[in-house]
Amino acid sequence: MSKIKVGVIGAGYIGMVHLEMLRRIPEVEVAAVADPDLDLARRAGDRLGIPKIYGSADDLLADPGIEVVHVCAPNNVHFDINRKAILAGKDILSEKPLALDARESGELLRLAAERGTLTGIDFCYRYYPVVQEAAARVRRGDLGDVRAFVGHFLQDWLFYDTDYSWRLDPAVAGRANVVADLGSHWCDLVRFITGLRIVEVFSELHTCIPVRKKPKAGPRSFAARQEGETEDVPIELDDYAALFLRLENGARGNFTTCQVCAGRKVDIELQVFGSRESYAWSHVHPNALWIGRRDRGNETFYESSQLQDAATVRFASLPTGHPMGYHDAVTNLFREFYEAAAAKREGRPFQAAFPGFAEGHEAMRIIDAAVESSRAGRWVRL
Ligand SMILES: NC(=O)c1ccc[n+]([C@@H]2O[C@H](COP(=O)([O-])OP(=O)(O)OC[C@H]3O[C@@H](n4cnc5c(N)ncnc54)[C@H](O)[C@@H]3O)[C@@H](O)[C@H]2O)c1
Repeated sequence: MSKIKVGVIGAGYIGMVHLEMLRRIPEVEVAAVADPDLDLARRAGDRLGIPKIYGSADDLLADPGIEVVHVCAPNNVHFDINRKAILAGKDILSEKPLALDARESGELLRLAAERGTLTGIDFCYRYYPVVQEAAARVRRGDLGDVRAFVGHFLQDWLFYDTDYSWRLDPAVAGRANVVADLGSHWCDLVRFITGLRIVEVFSELHTCIPVRKKPKAGPRSFAARQEGETEDVPIELDDYAALFLRLENGARGNFTTCQVCAGRKVDIELQVFGSRESYAWSHVHPNALWIGRRDRGNETFYESSQLQDAATVRFASLPTGHPMGYHDAVTNLFREFYEAAAAKREGRPFQAAFPGFAEGHEAMRIIDAAVESSRAGRWVRL
């Protein structure tokens, strides 16, 4: 079988992660990269041996040789690029959040279903081996009924008022910053591990730093230090959000996310309390799943190519004891997506167990509900 020809749109932080991890997928050849910052696209192409460099998403989408596109541009162009990609007959792996709001993401979901597009969304934290293990144990009944859940997603890269990003600009990011950026990942983890939908939200979104110094020359994501001239700009979007959540089975949970927490880098934690036992996962020690019990000793389960549930062992691809990481989680997701893409191309049946536009739309609805709840000061049903 010839390789699946892939084009990556956006060569910034996450675009480079996609480009590099795609090299680990045997079914794939990265044939093109596009970025309006043509120098950036050229540098990525030169480094990774990508033959075609485009200065716009439209040019890449017009290339009939490209079968799958990865959408790694900022949020405000996700709808337009994803829509055009569907209409151009490409399969798609998009970055999150899927669009600027649920009206847009719902339209993408509808259109993709109508055209038979294979869709994926990069909710990569699902793909740590022990996160998969937790979900498998919930499915096999070990946890019992989900009763409650708590957690956080904390970072510090917006700690100083001199830290600035397009993520704080509503014209590029949408109606929310941190609750969309980090909250979408955390809510997806809840959805995935518990197998239950979030159906009701009460939230408070807050801006800890209401004026920031924006560099006059546009900054890149997560830049350690912005240099050059700045201007003071008022910030409307949230850099802190707290959510109360209800699941479809009535379980209750709460979640805090914030990007001004000095010392917290990618500090994700989720604890789920069931009627038989509890699970806790922390991205700070991502290879371990804590299993809590009332009547016998607690346990720490480490990712293992020997000991994981049969349904999840393929995600623990290193010999037991060699820790896997963020790149491996992204690769696990891509591997699943491309197994399905290859089967689709050959007309073989396939299972799309990875998150797609349906999950992206579900996360968008939660973000919209969080924004609405914070403005109105009341619970919002999805
Ligand atoms: N899944 C994850 O863990 C994860 C992590 C980081 C970012 N993201 C998502 O990825 C997206 C990009 O974030 P980033 O941190 O890489 O941002 P970034 O600013 O580092 O990179 C974005 C790139 O897109 C390019 N771009 C802008 N407009 C474009 C267009 N119309 N067509 C093509 N390229 C365009 C920019 O020139 C830039 O190079 C965001 O939606 C973000 O939420 C997801």
